[in-house]
Amino acid sequence: MSVKQRIKNLLKKYLPLPARKQREIENRLLTELQQIHSENSNLRNEISSLKETLSGIQTIILNTNSVAYENVYANVFHDTTIESDWLKDKVFWPGRSALGYPAMYVTYRILNEIKPERILELGLGQSTKLISQYAASKPAIEHTVVESNQDWINFFSNSYNLPENTKIEKLDYKIIPYKNSDVRIFDGFEENFTSKKFDFILIDAPLGVDMKVYSRIDVLNILPECLDDNFIILVDDTERLGETNTLAEIRKVLEANSISFAEGSYGGMKKSTLICSANLSFLTTL
Ligand SMILES: C[S@@+](CC[C@H](N)C(=O)[O-])C[C@H]1O[C@@H](n2cnc3c(N)ncnc32)[C@H](O)[C@@H]1O
Repeated sequence: MSVKQRIKNLLKKYLPLPARKQREIENRLLTELQQIHSENSNLRNEISSLKETLSGIQTIILNTNSVAYENVYANVFHDTTIESDWLKDKVFWPGRSALGYPAMYVTYRILNEIKPERILELGLGQSTKLISQYAASKPAIEHTVVESNQDWINFFSNSYNLPENTKIEKLDYKIIPYKNSDVRIFDGFEENFTSKKFDFILIDAPLGVDMKVYSRIDVLNILPECLDDNFIILVDDTERLGETNTLAEIRKVLEANSISFAEGSYGGMKKSTLICSANLSFLTTL
């Protein structure tokens, strides 16, 4: 029934008037209603536009927060390493392709306080500059870096002197199917590391930005045998779906093997997530 008809019926029912008067009141009420409708529609548009603005402001706040956290961690990293016994070359370019300051800080604390001796690092770069200086401080440390890009290895090796106990393992990328999606992995990773044990694994490769469902799954093939009793796995870029899904798979393997663990995340402009043996749980709140 039209609005006009409803008004007519109501007027007839509750306010019977002469026909001319009734039409006049009907028209006035209809005009009022049309105005209310139009105001209502304007209000709806305003609400929708305000929602968009709010969502934009929320994005800006989130971005500003992540920049603020990155800066806080940069300061904390600088203060933490200021009088380091082993970190002498402090020229770093954290962020973008490299680890951000939160992960650099956490990595420094792991190295300095837990003193891991068998380190597996996936992805050569700024993190390698940090870990290799730690490796140089103690010959017993075995530090292996897996990298796919020979040009990057050449550039890096020409720019920095790596110690004897930091070894670069060059493995090409390949794409394999995994749980109904394609994933980039290091070709030969499993064969190379299957019988080895590590107390610190840093995962910042293969390239994961274009991975749709899973990313950086290499370690799954060697878990849990590759872990020492005291272990730390640090995964970078866990704000992304691929890395988040891989973390879930890591948890599943640990749980299936009754290995107790603790987990924590460190966020700045990107997020890094640490999974460690339960006895090292303080590492989740550095
Ligand atoms: C996420 S990066 C690993 C970076 C390393 N963990 C670090 O902190 O710098 C992954 C891969 O990107 C490549 N890569 C490293 N630095 C790069 C850069 N500045 N620009 C482009 N690619 C880079 C290397 O092949 C590396 O294995």
